[in-house]
Amino acid sequence: MSPRTHLTSADDVPEQGGWLFTVEEPDGSLREVFLVELDDGIAAWKNYCQHETDQELYREDIGAVMRDGGIVCPKHGSVFDAATGYCDNGKAAGSTLAEVDVTEELGQVYLTDEDVAFSHAGPADAGSEDDDDDDMPGSTSHMTF
Ligand code: FES
Repeated sequence: MSPRTHLTSADDVPEQGGWLFTVEEPDGSLREVFLVELDDGIAAWKNYCQHETDQELYREDIGAVMRDGGIVCPKHGSVFDAATGYCDNGKAAGSTLAEVDVTEELGQVYLTDEDVAFSHAGPADAGSEDDDDDDMPGSTSHMTF
């Protein structure tokens, strides 16, 4: 069980790019999660595409690409609804991103998901001196923005 953990100020979640942090899964593995700004709050999604789970949606250089309320997969261009996580187009059609529960209160964002524990802000490899990141998704892209 994870207590409510303060993540950041909602003002620090950019309209473009999102805000990346890392959680510990129940099996002890680290998983990147990114916050995105919605019209009426904040959502948090695990940082991998549902079409190819080794494909990151949030990339270190540009963050998550947002377009018309959607999150664009950098590899094949499927767009996931930023509020629901659902994708109705392209190679990931019919899938939904893996959500992490967060709450916004008085302009602050908290991790409230009982299935994961906060590890650190930033990418998974930023909180450890262990360079073995074989378990983490890589990032490849056939697209430019
Ligand atoms: S890897 Fe994301 S749509 Fe193919």
